[in-house]
Amino acid sequence: MEINDVKTLYSSYLFQNYGREDICLSHGDREFLYDINGKRYVDFVAGIAVNCLGHAHPALVDAITKQAKRMLHVSNLYYTMEQADLGEALASIAPSPLAVSMFCNSGAEANEAALKLAAKHTKRTKFLACLNSFHGRTAGALAATGQRKYQEGYECLLSNAFEFVDFNDSEAMKAMVSKDTAAVVMEMVQGEGGVIPASPEFVRTVRDLCHDTGALMIVDEVQTGMGRTGKWFGFEHYGVVPDIISLAKGLGGGMPIGAIVSTREVAKTFTPGSHGTTFGGNPLACAAGKAVIETIKKEGLVERSSELGSRWKRSVQKIADEKGGVKEVRGMGLMIGIEIGARSKEFKEQCFKEGLLVNVAGGNSIRLVPPLIISQGSVELFNRTLGDFL
Ligand SMILES: Cc1ncc(COP(=O)(O)O)c(C=O)c1O
Repeated sequence: MEINDVKTLYSSYLFQNYGREDICLSHGDREFLYDINGKRYVDFVAGIAVNCLGHAHPALVDAITKQAKRMLHVSNLYYTMEQADLGEALASIAPSPLAVSMFCNSGAEANEAALKLAAKHTKRTKFLACLNSFHGRTAGALAATGQRKYQEGYECLLSNAFEFVDFNDSEAMKAMVSKDTAAVVMEMVQGEGGVIPASPEFVRTVRDLCHDTGALMIVDEVQTGMGRTGKWFGFEHYGVVPDIISLAKGLGGGMPIGAIVSTREVAKTFTPGSHGTTFGGNPLACAAGKAVIETIKKEGLVERSSELGSRWKRSVQKIADEKGGVKEVRGMGLMIGIEIGARSKEFKEQCFKEGLLVNVAGGNSIRLVPPLIISQGSVELFNRTLGDFL
């Protein structure tokens, strides 16, 4: 089978709602992916910050295989040990007072749950979100997404409960938060927006304003969570603790799962029937989540993300300083953005030719979100490719 045959099948049988690279992937191993013709690629995308343990990590494969043989799915009408274990594992990594989890299947769904929880808990009607944010494609999450391009054509489905503030504009945030605000929702590093970290002052301002007005602080950790930024959660860089966080992506290491984690007091607002989903907290997904957390702990991947990420960012900055053509190098841990403007797409295509998968975020930046197990050799390969290009 050749790529053109696969593309013919796609155009015959699948919606054309994605722009895809000319590559049909077959299998993976650590940070490497192989296409159907056996060509190897180094994966700096990791399913967009999903495959934190890389591809085919034995601990994750083993956990999923064992669980699949025992029990794939049961309804939330019943208790399972797998869901309890993952709740306990999340409580072990989430700073207090974040303590209680509820599971779903994706990042968008996690944000939907967080928004519903905040509305019900505060009995208020307004939300504040940031421009250039991304929170997902379902109606509530999309309404919270501060980028017109994602909302266009769907206005009729979107709640008008959301108002937007420039990211990192503390004064604007102060002017907008009121006694009607149910929650402020934000990312610690805007991922889709181009890997743009929140400023410490802005995060502190949001935390204080929420505290003073009784609004909840929702932090979307869908992309930044699970060690991606060099701490378990992005908010830990800022010395604050939100009231609710949303998780997905890295939590399952490739198994679809999402979650919200909140304080005990906020969690009490959801009583039986308040919210739910058929697949949320499915034993297979929960077994994967538990294996991911255990493996990240065992292999010290949060520390690795921090150390390797800072060294890598410094080395990219050095290349940028020597060669020019880079507006900014941003990010934390193994979430790095390199702003090279209009040349981003050209660089992505050059990488692709040379067997490196990278992705463009914010329209002007290369986003690197590789598996947390990525080798030094692959980092050096990327740096050489960037240096030659610039
Ligand atoms: C910060 C953030 N929130 C939410 C989402 C949506 O997650 P999902 O695609 O799993 O619905 C994404 C996806 O890119 C994201 O980066």
